[in-house]
Order: sequence, then C-alpha cells, then structure tokens
Amino acid sequence: MLQKDVKLDNTTKTLVLKKHIDFLQSFGKERHQYESSMMEFLRMSGMYWGLTALYLINDGKIPKEDEIFEYIKSCEHSCGGYSPAPGHDPHLLYTLSAVQIACLLNRELELPIEKIVSYVTKLQQDDGSFTGDKWGEIDTRYSFCALACLSLLGKHNEINLVKAVDFIKSCQNFDGGFGSRPGAESHGGLIYCCVGSLSIAGRLDLVDADTLGWWLAERQLPSGGLNGRPEKLPDVCYSWWVFSTLNILGRDHWIDKEDLKTFILASQDNDGGGFSDRPGDEPDPFHTLFGLAALSLMSYDNILPIDPTYCMPKAVINRLGLKPQTLS
Ligand code: FPP
Ligand code: ZN
Repeated sequence: MLQKDVKLDNTTKTLVLKKHIDFLQSFGKERHQYESSMMEFLRMSGMYWGLTALYLINDGKIPKEDEIFEYIKSCEHSCGGYSPAPGHDPHLLYTLSAVQIACLLNRELELPIEKIVSYVTKLQQDDGSFTGDKWGEIDTRYSFCALACLSLLGKHNEINLVKAVDFIKSCQNFDGGFGSRPGAESHGGLIYCCVGSLSIAGRLDLVDADTLGWWLAERQLPSGGLNGRPEKLPDVCYSWWVFSTLNILGRDHWIDKEDLKTFILASQDNDGGGFSDRPGDEPDPFHTLFGLAALSLMSYDNILPIDPTYCMPKAVINRLGLKPQTLS
C-alpha cells in the first residue's frame, strides 16, 4: 500500500513549555486579531481547545474566568443551543464546546440545563442518529457531541440511548472501524467519536477491539506520526483521535510511543510556541491541544492527565463523577 510520510529534521525531545503557554495566552488576549479573523465561525470550539490546552500545561490555571463565562452567555440561543460567536446560528458542535468550557470553569450548574437537554434531544432522529443543527446533516461526530454534552450535565439518559448505540453500531465496518454514516469508510476521527460514544454509553462490548486496534496501530508511519486513514500524511491531531481510542481500548502499547513523542515534538514551533499539523507548518490552537493531549496520555513531563473519552482534564471528569468505560 502507498505510504505518504514526512522526514523529521528537528528531533528535539524537549517541550518548549513556556512558549506554548505564551502562545495560548496570546491567542486569548489579542481580541482584535481573533475576533475579526476568519476563525469566527468556530470561535467557541477555539476557546475550548485553547483553554483545555492551557489547563494541561499551566497547572490547571486558566485566565479571565468571568469574561469567558460571559462570552458563553452571549452565544446562548432561546432554543437551548449555542453558536460559535454572537449572531451566528446554534449548532451541536458549539453547544458541546460551551458545556465543556463551563465544566472547565466549574460553572456548568449555571447553564440553562433543561433548555440544553431540550435542544440536544430534539436533534435525535428516529434511527437514533443526530443532526448537527436544524439543517439536518447526519454524522456520527454529532452522536458523540450529543452524548458527551448531555453526560457532562448528568443528563445522557434523556436521549434514546439504545437507539443512539444502534445507529453507531450500524456505522461499524468490516475492518473494525467506523465512518460518518452506515457504509461510509473508516476514518480515525470518526472512530474516536464512535468509540467515545460507546465508552460514555458503557457499550464497548460492541467493539471488535483486536481488529480495530490493529487498524489503528497500522496508522503509525516511519516518522512516528499517525494518519487518519491509509495513504494519508501523518497529522498531529490524529495523535489524539487514533491514540486516545487505543487508550480507551486498552491497546495503547500497540504503537511505538517514543516515536510518536518524537513526531509530536518535531511539530512544535520552537520560536513562537504552539503545534502545527506536521513539522514546519503554521501552529494553531487545535493542533496544540491535540499534540499536548496525546503527550499527556503518554505521561510526558508535568502535563496534567487527560481523559481519553472526553478530551478534558481528568480532574474535571472526576469532579463531575463521570466514569467513562475503558477496556484493559
Ligand atoms: C477529523 O476531521 C476529525 C474528526 C472527524 C473528529 C471530529 C470530532 C468532533 C467534532 C467531536 C468533538 C471532539 C472533541 C475532542 C471534544 P477532518 O474533517 O479534519 O478530517 P480529514 O483529516 O480527513 O480532513
Ligand atoms: Zn489535523
């Protein structure tokens, strides 16, 4: 099979911790730059990525807590959903991010929980699937958003869980993986969403852990990086989607962790901080979170522990009393 990979020039084993903290803090502070930028359509998720990353490497300390909570409130809609920025349409993706941020701030009980439950439950379809918003696109990533969002609020029994699980099962492929819909090809990101959903639902018995573990382990390339599908280039975010799934399945030792660390560390910006998708590209908060989160799963340095199902600090998941299922 064709293999695409990158050559690593910079194989430092050191994390430029202080620079990553500065990178993440400046992303939050430079309001004009980030408010008027082309990223507005996903700003709520951007805040979740940046704050979670900062929490992990800054001893759980995140800045300007009141201002952040006010921002969430400004994106609230009467239907119970949240938009990425004020004036945009609500969507399940940003509703999950808003709930995740409120949990990081220990302020989830101040959210309009019944309205959020109503918004999410109305997006469930007769076959158990979820649409992302009122426009009706179905995708297993929205199943994960619905389950994660409601379980963080202790409300996942409000949806039809049996049907939600049945739909995910219908997206399972012969290779053990999962796609976005029944019959769609296996994809690392959607495998995380489906296995994460089954972990929340306590139904990992439905996964063929050996077959899927093999497919996931096959994603590691000679550079040490992981790709999301065969014949694709390695990408730091798949260090999360693929490696966290291997953790949930208790098969994290099926890849070479030292090689993965080397690839992730080679994708840091040693001057300005932050991580990019692969060495030499521009850093961004998305890849910075997933690079640091994968390093956390490998107990790198003093990075705080992360939960492989929720991609949130373990301390927050413990505080909420959640126990997502994992296999050993
Ligand atoms: C790759 O997408 C990633 C995915 C499909 C997973 C997305 C997961 C969510 C939105 C759920 C929320 C996640 C967390 C961590 C709380 P892509 O479109 O970039 O894929 P490509 O690499 O094939 O282009
Ligand atoms: Zn990526």
